[in-house]
Amino acid sequence: MNMYSRILGTGSYLPPRRLSNADLAAELALKGVETSDEWIVERTGIRARHFAAPDVGCSDLAVHAARQALQAAGLQASDLDLIIVATSTPDMVFPSTATMVQHKLGTAGCPAFDVQAVCSGFVYALTVADAMIRSGAARQALVIGAEVFSRILDFSDRTTCVLFGDGAGAVVLGAADQPGILATDIHADGRHRDILCVPGHVSGGQVLGDPVLKMDGQAVFKLAVGVLEETARTSLAKAGLQDTDIDWLIPHQANIRIMQSTARKLKVPADKVVVTVDQHGNTSAASIPLALDVAVRDGRIRRGQHLMLEGVGGGFTWGSVLLKY
Ligand code: UT7
Repeated sequence: MNMYSRILGTGSYLPPRRLSNADLAAELALKGVETSDEWIVERTGIRARHFAAPDVGCSDLAVHAARQALQAAGLQASDLDLIIVATSTPDMVFPSTATMVQHKLGTAGCPAFDVQAVCSGFVYALTVADAMIRSGAARQALVIGAEVFSRILDFSDRTTCVLFGDGAGAVVLGAADQPGILATDIHADGRHRDILCVPGHVSGGQVLGDPVLKMDGQAVFKLAVGVLEETARTSLAKAGLQDTDIDWLIPHQANIRIMQSTARKLKVPADKVVVTVDQHGNTSAASIPLALDVAVRDGRIRRGQHLMLEGVGGGFTWGSVLLKY
């Protein structure tokens, strides 16, 4: 039995329709909603987001990212013995988006399921996949974060609709004799479930409640900054490492100010934080693997380096994964 799991390949995908802040502001102005590039950049660091076409679902974005990750790992879909998709915007109520991805990749038989932990979803999914590989239950796992948040946005609410976008990121995780993933740490606190939620649900053939995203941005901001430092320190302690050992911090891409504040607390220099939020806004569960893939492909992240992945989101959920790439 192998003791560890390690990343064999990464991939990511953004749908082609890109809206700069100015493009979005112009569209919103037609509905009488006022915003500006200046406000969005100053408060969030976001410059653009991508929106999927109406006939494109979460599983379609996921499959693009998955194919790249499989190619980078040098594996076929038939080599997989586990598929996990982290998403809060699935194709359907059921079956899971993971089973759609499995089918679209042309394979069958291996377990496939979704993990729903909103913006912490990828960290949760990676934690589950790592545990299954270390236990011997799987050897090659596809772990995806994919979202179409454009489907659950209220475009009359400027405090939320400018923040989010669509996208997908994926990793192939494989069994290994050497780490790999060094430590994982995940948490939830349902007392804060109302500060970031989509209250709508399907019942009796109807959607009951409001099926769009609601957020108390300042409450989320305050909680996020605290737990992101805490979980990173917990993972470091579990692995017996110091904050100075972090080569790259890859936080959930929600807001540049949250990322900068976390980096300062962890004493990670700004140029060691992977930032892609400017290019795609908050893509929830997709944001960490998207940022990871960008920095792997542009050569910043190299084998042997220590990566701290960490996320926070609705639930309230949060967590981190510390790994040797
Ligand atoms: O995945 C986790 C998800 N969420 C997050 O990470 C979000 C965490 N929170 C945040 O990032 C920030 O709280 C926001 C970016 C959401 C908001 O920034 P803020 O600095 O907390 O702004 P605010 O809510 O205090 O609003 C300041 C002003 C308000 O106007 P008044 O009341 O001062 O006149 C808002 O109405 O900015 C106004 N405002 C806007 N103006 C232009 C809010 N949204 C917009 C907008 N364009 N899009």
